[in-house]
Order: sequence, then structure tokens, then C-alpha cells
Amino acid sequence: MAKQEDQFKKVISHAKEYGYIFQSSEIYDGLSAVYDYAQNGVELKKNIRDYWWKSMVQMHENIVGIDASILMHPTTWKASGHVDAFNDPLIDNKDSKKRYRADVLVEDYCAKIENKIEKEVKKAEKRFGEAFNKEEFKSTNGRVLGYQEKIDTILKRLGKSLENEDLVDVKALIEELEIADPLTGSKNWTEVKQFNLMFGTKLGASAESAMDLYLRPETAQGIFVNFLNVQKTGRMKIPFGIAQTGKAFRNEIVARQFIFRMREFEQMEMQFFVKPGTQKEWYEQWKETRLKWHLSLGMGADNYRFHDHEKLAHYADAAADIEFKFPFGFKELEGIHSRTDFDLKAHEEHSGKKIQYFDPEENKNYVPYVVETSIGLDRMFLAVFSNSLQEEELENGTTRTVLKLPAVLAPTKAAILPLVKKDGLPEIARKIVDDLKWSFNVSYDDKDAVGRRYRRQDAAGTPICITVDHDTIKDNTVTVRDRDTMEQKRVLISELKTIVSEKVDLQNWLK
Ligand code: GAP
Repeated sequence: MAKQEDQFKKVISHAKEYGYIFQSSEIYDGLSAVYDYAQNGVELKKNIRDYWWKSMVQMHENIVGIDASILMHPTTWKASGHVDAFNDPLIDNKDSKKRYRADVLVEDYCAKIENKIEKEVKKAEKRFGEAFNKEEFKSTNGRVLGYQEKIDTILKRLGKSLENEDLVDVKALIEELEIADPLTGSKNWTEVKQFNLMFGTKLGASAESAMDLYLRPETAQGIFVNFLNVQKTGRMKIPFGIAQTGKAFRNEIVARQFIFRMREFEQMEMQFFVKPGTQKEWYEQWKETRLKWHLSLGMGADNYRFHDHEKLAHYADAAADIEFKFPFGFKELEGIHSRTDFDLKAHEEHSGKKIQYFDPEENKNYVPYVVETSIGLDRMFLAVFSNSLQEEELENGTTRTVLKLPAVLAPTKAAILPLVKKDGLPEIARKIVDDLKWSFNVSYDDKDAVGRRYRRQDAAGTPICITVDHDTIKDNTVTVRDRDTMEQKRVLISELKTIVSEKVDLQNWLK
């Protein structure tokens, strides 16, 4: 646990030191759970967004994008159920005066049991060596099965109580499990209460005529209310999807863990409209497609798992999370939800307008069903960044800090380094920058010895370093150094564009 916390602290400080993420309004001591993306962070974030957008919109003939506004008519949120049901169960500790999400306290308790399972697996792995079969061990070892049963029983009860809004039982569960305030150890809890997560704001100047609005808590509703507009103007035929990326706001009760849970964050969502009755197939298909997208980034298949929901949101008939192994354990990264016709029907009722699709094959109108894929951009950023930050022991006994970002996402694709600041080398290096910058984000760096520059670029996540030295003047060749393997090879300047392109080309990654 301490090791995990240390690793997480390193992630946060590295993100600041290398210009990825700053605390918002830091000079005023910051604002809780709100962050700013810095010069490198904004590039990484943009590249993740592009990677998602291209794979969802550009690569799918039947998916188009929109960019709806953050402020929406307030009835939207009545129709969507967010006014009445977008609540988290909160509990206060009477001694520490700290506020927690009751369900998260229980889930964290289960995560500790999960850690015990991991420990058993590691011990067995050591004992059995190469012959070890993890899946078999987990499904037969008595102790592991006992732990797993305990987790399942607790989560099932939690899911049921939340679904029935039985908050008394949620508190009873916390007491039965003897869960204590993680900060103080106190078990002196208040009752569990519901807390609406939407941020309110006002439209209009005068106090009397101002209209109460909400900052959108999800981007999805901007898609639902535009369903007919897009379907008609785009002449879209079912099945088809509408994608959108953009900011969402939630007044989170527990907003810790850096950019994992923020109050202002960005979502990348896609609503896929299907014929009623086919939603189950599409739900399975999108689960598979989205997992493949994650795996394409090469961050290790073991770092992902599905978690099927016990407690379904008010709009869903099936839902699963793709969980990622963050430095603080497996947590939700993306949600795939079969949202039925809940939203479109609700908007029909509240707006009084018919929101239906005429299916020419069936020769009838119907309200389509929806399968949604919804991923937090900031959470994806954290997954990529934390997984990429590594410390490596080198053969010469030193260590290096390296940010092994997938090259397709790296903020700077190549750094061009003149060996010395004289003899015409800076001019050649500048010329290479000028040629490459039409196609890639590249940087020029001539400060310090070249070894130190390599380390700096490793830590910043730059996949390629290109060094210009005195031989370059003679034969037009440069040294290309790979961030991950540290291998160096000599290539012609004229080959550079192809070399960088191969490394960062979308097709090579997505395929
Ligand atoms: N439209 C469905 C929806 O919003 P959700 O599970 O509440 O579903 C989807 O959110 C995704 O948005 C999550 O999987 C997570 O990646 C991201 N997300 C949700 N709340 C967040 C927060 N407070 N901070 C950062 N990301 C968040």
C-alpha cells in the first residue's frame, strides 16, 4: 500500500515538474479537485482526444460528431432524471467532520480484501515458478475463494441497498464491517444521506428574471436532444452513432486522487442508436470494441478488466465498466451502458415533441434504443501517464526516470539536439526542426551535455531524439535515439520524416 502511495505521489510531482498538470489557481492555494493542463499536458490530452475521435468518428462511416453547449434548457435535467436521481450517498464522520461517499467506503474495504488476494497470488507465483497458472489458482485456492466470496456478498448487498434507496442498510453495512474514517480511525458516523451532484448557475442579469440552470453533469444529453436534428440533416440510418467530447461538471463529495475524480472534467461519449431488441448484441459489441481500443495503446492487457454493474443507473438495462489498474488499484476508466429508450422517451414527454425514427425496412416509427460508451478524458490521461512513468535500473548502476508514453500520444514526437552550440551544428538542427514541424510536434534543445538532454527528454516522454554532430556536416547523417530501448542508429536526414512517421502513425497503432 505504501509503495502504491509513493508511486502515486511520484506521478503527481512528475506531472507538475514536466509541465503536464498544475493545481488550478495555485497562487491562491488552489481549488479542490480542479486542475489546469500545462504546456505538455494540453498536447497529451489533445492527442488522447484525437485518438478517440479518429477511432470513433473517422473510422466509422455511421458515427458523426457534434459539439453541444454546456448550458442546456433546465427541463433537460428534469427529463433525464438528474434533478431527482443524480445523487451520491454521503456520510459524515462526527469526530473528524470529514465527508465521505458511503458506497466508496465499502468499495475501498473490498479493495483491501482484493489486495489480500493479490498477495496470495504473488506468494503462489513465487512458490510454483513457471508452472504457475494464475486463473486456476484463483478458482481453486480455498483462501482466495473465501476472500472473493466475502467481496461478492458485500458488493451484492451494497448494490441492492443502493438500488432500493435503503440508506439505513448502507449505514448498517458500514457499521457491521467496522469501517473507520480512513484519516482518523473514528467509527462515529452520521446517517447516510443523498446529495445531488449538479452545479447550479443562473442565466440573465436581473435577480427577478434570472433562470436557474445547471452546468451539464454529462455530455450525453446534448446528443439526445439533438437526435432528430442530426438524424434528419445527416440522413442517418439506424444503427448509427453520435459522438461528442466536452466538459462536464459534478460537485463530487469525495474529490481526491488527483485528476481521477474532478469537479470539472472532460468526457468523450458516443450514443449508438439501435433498433429496439438489438441492444444486447450492440452492447456486447461495443464492450469488445472499446476494450480493443484500450489494448491498441499497448499498456498491458493485465491492466484492464470488466466490471459488470450490480446497481444500474436509473436509465440502464445493462452496464459495465472497463477498469484500469491505477496506482491506487483497479478503478473505473470507461463505462459502457445499455440506456434503453429512457432518454429519448423522457425528452419526448417533457418537450411534447415526437422524437422517433421511421425505419424504412420495418415501415414503422419507433423510439430507438441506445448503447453508450463514455470515457473520462482526464481519467484516460491519468491511466496513460501513470502507467508510462517508470524508473529503470541501467547497466552502469544508475537509474533513469522515463515516461514511456505511447508514441502516438506523446506531446513532442522528436527532440532535435545539436551536439555543441557551434561549428554550424545549431543551424543544421534548426533546419531539421523547420522541415519536421510541418508534420509533427518537435522541439529544439541545445542546453547541457547531450546525455543530460537525453534524460530530460526521456522524463518528458519524447519518443525520439535526433542528434546532429560533426559527422552530419560530412555525410548528412544524424543519430536517432529511441526513448524506450535507448538504442541509437545512424540515418540520413532525408529518412527522418519516414522514421518519425512510422513511430507515431495512427494506422500503425489503431490497426
Ligand atoms: N453519460 C454517462 C456517464 O456520464 P459516468 O459513469 O457517470 O457515466 C462516465 O461517467 C465516465 O466519465 C467515467 O467512466 C469516468 O471516466 C468519467 N468521470 C465521471 N465522473 C468523473 C469525475 N468526477 N472526474 C473525472 N472523470 C469522471
